[in-house]
Amino acid sequence: MMQFTGICSMRICRSALSPWMHSPLPTTCCAMPQVPSPTVRPNPTRSLKRTRRSPPIRSRSRMAIFELCPWIRYSTDDAQGGHSTAFFYIAPIIRSATEALMTASGMSSTDIRRIASADMLELPEHAVVIADRSLPQTILSRVPDAILVEAGERLKSLDVIEGLALEVLQRRSSRPMTLVALGGGSIGDAVGFLASILWRGVGLWHVPTTLLAMVDSAHGGKTAVNLGPAKNQLGSFYPAEKVIIVDEFLRPLPLALRREGIVELLKALWLGDAESTRALGTRSIEELTYAPYAEIATQLGNMIDAAVAIKQRIVAADPKEERGIRTTLNLGHTLGHALELTMGLSHGSAVAWGMLTSLHFAAREGMPESDIRRCRETLFPLLQPLSVLPGREVLLGAMQRDKKRHDGQLRSVILHALGEAVVHTEISAESWIDVFHAEWQNFQNARVRVRSATPRAVSLTLEASKSELNRALIIAAQRIGRTTIGGRSSADDVTCMLRALRQLGYPIEETSRGYLVDNLERDVRTSPSDEGVTLHVCEGGTTLRFLLALCAARATRHKIFVAPALMRRPHDPLLRSLRSGGASIEEFDDPSGQGFIVRGWRQMPDAMSIDPRESSQYASAIALLAVGADQPFTLRLLGEPVSETYLEMTLAMLEDAGVETIRHGDLIALNQSERLRDKLTMEIEVDASSRAVWSVARFLGHPVVPGRKVRIPRQPDSAVDKYLATLREAERGEVSMDLGDVPDLLPVLAVAAAMQRNTVTFTGIAHLRNKESNRLDEYAETLRSVGLSVDVLSDGMRVFPLTALQPDQYFRTHGDHRLVMAGALLSFAANTPLLLDHPWSVGKSYPAFWEDVRTAGWSVEQVSRV
Ligand SMILES: NC(=O)c1ccc[n+]([C@@H]2O[C@H](COP(=O)([O-])OP(=O)(O)OC[C@H]3O[C@@H](n4cnc5c(N)ncnc54)[C@H](O)[C@@H]3O)[C@@H](O)[C@H]2O)c1
Repeated sequence: MMQFTGICSMRICRSALSPWMHSPLPTTCCAMPQVPSPTVRPNPTRSLKRTRRSPPIRSRSRMAIFELCPWIRYSTDDAQGGHSTAFFYIAPIIRSATEALMTASGMSSTDIRRIASADMLELPEHAVVIADRSLPQTILSRVPDAILVEAGERLKSLDVIEGLALEVLQRRSSRPMTLVALGGGSIGDAVGFLASILWRGVGLWHVPTTLLAMVDSAHGGKTAVNLGPAKNQLGSFYPAEKVIIVDEFLRPLPLALRREGIVELLKALWLGDAESTRALGTRSIEELTYAPYAEIATQLGNMIDAAVAIKQRIVAADPKEERGIRTTLNLGHTLGHALELTMGLSHGSAVAWGMLTSLHFAAREGMPESDIRRCRETLFPLLQPLSVLPGREVLLGAMQRDKKRHDGQLRSVILHALGEAVVHTEISAESWIDVFHAEWQNFQNARVRVRSATPRAVSLTLEASKSELNRALIIAAQRIGRTTIGGRSSADDVTCMLRALRQLGYPIEETSRGYLVDNLERDVRTSPSDEGVTLHVCEGGTTLRFLLALCAARATRHKIFVAPALMRRPHDPLLRSLRSGGASIEEFDDPSGQGFIVRGWRQMPDAMSIDPRESSQYASAIALLAVGADQPFTLRLLGEPVSETYLEMTLAMLEDAGVETIRHGDLIALNQSERLRDKLTMEIEVDASSRAVWSVARFLGHPVVPGRKVRIPRQPDSAVDKYLATLREAERGEVSMDLGDVPDLLPVLAVAAAMQRNTVTFTGIAHLRNKESNRLDEYAETLRSVGLSVDVLSDGMRVFPLTALQPDQYFRTHGDHRLVMAGALLSFAANTPLLLDHPWSVGKSYPAFWEDVRTAGWSVEQVSRV
């Protein structure tokens, strides 16, 4: 078996074959060729820079190398603008091999520069710059007069490229010409492609602005455009003459895009050698991914150097992907592509899961256990929780498509050791899927250790309210005409609602700011899907109740599958009311699952009654039907609604949409107005429940800024400040507060209460006993298990001041997302690490919780194996 161990070469060839790669690659498994380790090791303390114009270098041995290899040009400037460590470890054997390569191919080369910042980029006189129009002005202002284009996959199409070519030719109609791509990978791919075909090839420079482009797509000469829906089907090998990496451009990069780049960066380090992972330095991947840019700039710069050098080395050994060596750059991609395709995951997230899964096969091939453990640990902060997986057949289909591209063989890149990647063809798609499922299960069951390491005064950007969004989606689905919804959420409840409404045939599109629903009359009244649809509502209580009512108002049959825990929750008052309105609703429980079969009424009744004492959602679910009703409609409340404010939210949103609501005692009259058919825009507020968690953190002394304020306080949890003000009184004496409107705040407020000097009593929350489980008892049990002193009362809980909290205690969350958040807050408040189970249950209401926790300075480690 041949191996390829790490060394850095700084200049690559347009086309070249290595003289040390004459032997044919094995058919079942091809490996990278062995190159002895470099004899010169980095000396991070030594300042070193080399370009054609650079001052003489100090090291004699290095000087000798440069004299021998004057084509080596790679320079870095550190953040202070001075010259610092460069990657110049040229083992003699690499040098002679690469010299031979160059001679053999008469190639040109890529000159790579990394600079800290630049007021204005130095570009050739004959440059035509093509830039991403969405780049921050601070970046666009560094180039003169660029052609601005929309970045993304749409750019990578032949018709857009044609238009772009015409625009370029208007700017410059004769040689010499150099196209400069300023932007992320999509800009690089498209501009590179254009440069390769314009006049059969013009000059090309890349100025990458995303981390992914800096460490990956700008190097290696692959250009690509899409063909219909199929990605990267047309392209060429066309390395840039120059790549300029400007550190400063990473400052405004959103966190999600930084994480995408870190995945590719980590992949390159794994492909390097055991030493390459040292480029990680003292900062963890968690910090590099989530800390503010200024904190990690220097370290990130070093890692970019290392990753670029590794990629260059691999590309130089197999520039046109003919020898299987370059295939190793696809580490994590075999499964990753299938996940990207079937789950809509971002490329980086999908590849991270692919890399994790590949470690199982790496262990089988003898990769040392300690390295596997380290790789798992570094990958952990990059893994995006996946609440549901695609079916096995769906994943298999996607992997088979990949297989078709390679003579019917699935090519799997597996590490045998760090720096020793081997392409296997004997691993089946089925094995990948089995291992992935096992890894996912491990991840789901893992506990995390939470510790508030360096509290940061960051300002968080939170998603839109899921309560408001679910109501807005049900309103928009029933309206005739165009409804624009401003605000998005990736919470499980909203995802589940969106999927179900689309299955019912409602045309809901995603936009950059939210959702767009444009219904024709027939979409609403006689949807083609009305013949009967099967829906899955997972664990979403709101989703189930709203959909039960919506299906009752559609004249056909619907089968709704419901998760067992949700099935156990009380729904009887709603079912009784819908049945008395004329809908047929039967429960089913068979080997296929549990749920309801609903056959809707022919004509909506003009009056209904509902008992809202267990949940105001029952009343909201029926009131929302007024949007699609043909006539005015009256709803009678048979008792005081619990969490009344949620019903008020529903009525206020109905008013905004054009349904007049008049409430008189227990009667609510709902009349459709002319406005119901106008174009409607519904702006959704930030999620007040997510914001409340950070308000409590701030109350407890964390410097975080908990996102944008809620302007219209429709969400009950937006009143958190009022409760915190009462809590503050507990410094002076015992306090009591009624949480009847905000029962979900109990866990985080209980943590805040335990930090006060006096006892705090919470009342009005007896109904927490009627949820999927007896939440009141569960919350008390968890808080007591880590040493908090609490009493359960007939309608609430009393919390006594915390005396001491031992580190690393197990905070049992029962899979309740509110307890997970409370546990993280407690670890901060008591400045003590805690172990939490079911950490990913937060996906139900606040999927970005752990990202925000890490951004705010907590450290989150896996405790059991991921
Ligand atoms: N050629 C290759 O070898 C190769 C390798 C990997 C990926 N790719 C391609 O790269 C593309 C993905 O790359 P990408 O994520 O860089 O995509 P991108 O170009 O679509 O950029 C993503 C987003 O980042 C924004 N952005 C860019 N720089 C920014 C900055 N400094 N600050 C704030 N926002 C910024 C852009 O406006 C855009 O919205 C895909 O098309 C993929 O196929 C190519």
